[in-house]
Amino acid sequence: MNLTVIGSGYVGLVSGACFSEFGFNVTCVDKDEAKIDSLNAGAIPIYEPGLDDLVARNMAAGRLKFQTELADSVADADAVFIAVGTPTRRGDGHADLSYVYAASEEIAAHLSGYTVIVTKSTVPVGTGRNVAAIIKKTNPDADFDVASNPEFLREGSAINDFMRPDRVVVGVESDAARDVMAALYRPLNIRETPILFTTLETSELIKYAANAFLAVKISYINQMADLCEAVGADVHDVAKGMGLDQRIGAKFLHPGPGYGGSCFPKDTLALVKTAEDFGRDVTIVNDVVRYNAERKASMTDRVITAAGGDVDGKTIAILGLAFKPETDDMRDSPALDILPRLVASGAQIKAYDPAAMDQAKPLLPDSITFTKNAASCLADADVAVVITEWNEFRALTPAAMKQMMRGKAIVDLRNIFDGKAMIKAGFDYINIGRAGLAAHR
Ligand code: UGA
Repeated sequence: MNLTVIGSGYVGLVSGACFSEFGFNVTCVDKDEAKIDSLNAGAIPIYEPGLDDLVARNMAAGRLKFQTELADSVADADAVFIAVGTPTRRGDGHADLSYVYAASEEIAAHLSGYTVIVTKSTVPVGTGRNVAAIIKKTNPDADFDVASNPEFLREGSAINDFMRPDRVVVGVESDAARDVMAALYRPLNIRETPILFTTLETSELIKYAANAFLAVKISYINQMADLCEAVGADVHDVAKGMGLDQRIGAKFLHPGPGYGGSCFPKDTLALVKTAEDFGRDVTIVNDVVRYNAERKASMTDRVITAAGGDVDGKTIAILGLAFKPETDDMRDSPALDILPRLVASGAQIKAYDPAAMDQAKPLLPDSITFTKNAASCLADADVAVVITEWNEFRALTPAAMKQMMRGKAIVDLRNIFDGKAMIKAGFDYINIGRAGLAAHR
């Protein structure tokens, strides 16, 4: 089968490369000429482990192409995936669908033979039906169906998530479209991956419902962490004790500075807006949106406390800037809330991230010094703050930190260090929700 993927951003690129690995002929189309040129030259514009090898292998095999024009590939395609961005619309929190609708119009003009148009971008309920209406209006003779096929890829493990998913969700409303979608995911049959066929609206809502639920789960454990600090309990044990109940599950119960990234903040907001549009109030998600924003900002107070109540003139070492490890993505990273606030309070900031420095620099105050590695970041620091749980930071021992730092305060917003060891070594160790550790002093 021949596939066209419109949009070579995160979702489009990973999905296109993985479908070509399944053996299909995939053409990835993007209007950004510089991006297509660099992809054709073998350079991957995003940091995603394993993606460069996957792209190179399938390009060499002749199954994966990149181009700026969509006409010829859409005409030959059995399925066209729309994987363009759906950012939060300025001012009102709704998902901005202008790229999705523009792509639909362009696709319509070039359709030839039966084609399934698939929305892969995260799109609010009703978008699939609007896409179908646009195509019909632009090209009344087109022989097509629209399908919804949300992605559940996590940045940093996107290829594994595509190749070994927990489930595939497909919204279709004709047997012909269902057959095409079933054929596309047939390679997953060997793993007995459940493929859930449903209507367009249900499939569109599943994506938002899943992301918002995960955001709720994270916020819940973050609130439990707050409570643990107040009552002297350990949130890791609370999470373990909860997570062993299979109805709850152990995953996504890691407390931290609040969720960020390109998906949860945008999708929770968009779900709230969709509910409003339909006269419903998803109060739980509403609360989580507000709580998470407050939480990210409030992390600054922990650093100020660690610095003895005032960061003015103090040197603060920031370890990690990306919203999570194994990505260079800075979107809605807690670092963007914490660092400007510390700078405004007079702190001297040194920062290091293994992958996100180039992305981070334009988004952060000019006065921040970006260092080459963790050691130079920690050198002569009064306070060390872990914002992202990169593995290379986990290896930092109390002895090494003591040697590098001037001060003795550590704010571990991801609970990556052996807190007891840090406290024994004389550090003032501030963590998230592990109040019981102080007893080990
Ligand atoms: C998320 C979902 O996990 C994917 O299933 C979904 O496909 C994707 O959004 C999307 O809609 O495209 P992603 O944003 O890449 O993926 O990252 P996650 O690993 O889910 O982490 C999101 C945020 O939650 C991060 O800020 C992370 O630090 C935080 N988090 C996650 C916690 O604070 N605690 C946890 O236990 C888990």
